[in-house]
Amino acid sequence: MPSTAKRTKSASSSKKKTAKATQFKLPKKYPISFNVNGEKVETETYAHTSLLYLLRDLGFTEVKNGCEAGDCGACTILFDDVAANACCILGVQADGRDIETVKGIGTIDNLHPIQEKFIEHGAIQCGFCTPGMIVSAKELLDKNPKPTREEIKAGIAGNLCRCTGYVKIIDAIEAASKIKPSKKGK
Ligand code: FES
Ligand code: FES
Repeated sequence: MPSTAKRTKSASSSKKKTAKATQFKLPKKYPISFNVNGEKVETETYAHTSLLYLLRDLGFTEVKNGCEAGDCGACTILFDDVAANACCILGVQADGRDIETVKGIGTIDNLHPIQEKFIEHGAIQCGFCTPGMIVSAKELLDKNPKPTREEIKAGIAGNLCRCTGYVKIIDAIEAASKIKPSKKGK
């Protein structure tokens, strides 16, 4: 009996060896070009890749990945000067567009007044929401340089912060709005 069992196993393994491999093909990639913080980017991407993944894969990791569902605002960028969630845009839709991230608004060596006021007012704790929050604040102040506190709340309504309780963030944006235009930078 043991010898029969051995023969059966051997027949089954030889069947496996002769099975044909199925051919799988990756989807097509599309060439695109766009500007990020004033610099031209030329790349290619799958039709299904979100702009959030594309930007992060290209090294723009200041665009944060929170929910990937348009709920938290961590991935907020300026898309042709309009604040938008990168997770809700396809990478291919960026073709020919201008994108600005928090790093385009100001850098460590050259902070934008909104960033300075966030630091001064303690409007940053873990910092995860901050890049998106700053981008939304920038769009708000560009369109409405002297917002009321209610307008500031509405301007950052798409950005969730689990740490600060929002009061310090609103204080910081209000303080930035009081800086003279010549000092507001971009
Ligand atoms: S990661 Fe895009 S809205 Fe949350
Ligand atoms: S500072 Fe932590 S989520 Fe806003």
